[in-house]
Amino acid sequence: MIHIYQQKDIIIGFSIGHFCNFNQLVEFLFINPQWIRSSFSETKRFFYRKVICTMPEFEHQGIAHQLVKQSIESVQSKCDIILSICWNKSGVAPFGKILEAFNFEVIKVFNEYWKQDSIDKKYLCAICGTPPCLCDATLYALNIVG
Ligand SMILES: CC(C)(COP(=O)(O)OP(=O)(O)OC[C@H]1O[C@@H](n2cnc3c(N)ncnc32)[C@H](O)[C@@H]1OP(=O)(O)O)[C@@H](O)C(=O)NCCC(=O)NCCS
Repeated sequence: MIHIYQQKDIIIGFSIGHFCNFNQLVEFLFINPQWIRSSFSETKRFFYRKVICTMPEFEHQGIAHQLVKQSIESVQSKCDIILSICWNKSGVAPFGKILEAFNFEVIKVFNEYWKQDSIDKKYLCAICGTPPCLCDATLYALNIVG
């Protein structure tokens, strides 16, 4: 599911997420499946927030807040939990503050979350540069109360 924030014809922010079952969630998160199973044993319908981005010149105007609000409102009747992984460097998770404003809770911090993935796929991290990416990740969850 994609949400966009537009000004005239220009997309200046977007967020992407997926409804998924347990097996799809394991693929998205690349975290130990047993840990996911034990942490969310009661949950059947997941929504995984994958990406959010605002164009740099439009940051700090509340666009990400609006995108998160819209996505919660449009998925909450169709899932039991919304999960999000936030980039986190030296304990600072800029997007985490926005999730916390919508009552998302920290589930766990994963150290050097993208390390192996960045080596395998050879991508550059905006902070670390060439692989390995040594950023941590914080997993956030919003439980949807039936
Ligand atoms: C992280 C990111 C999505 C935030 O987007 P944004 O549109 O600037 O976010 P917002 O404007 O909603 O919130 C940012 C700040 O503006 C403030 N703000 C300003 N006007 C606001 C308004 N009208 N309504 C709500 N918040 C407002 C917020 O309080 C917030 O302050 P804080 O940083 O002290 O919490 C953006 O910086 C980005 O694209 N970064 C690169 C990609 C990235 O890191 N994505 C997240 C991966 S985990």
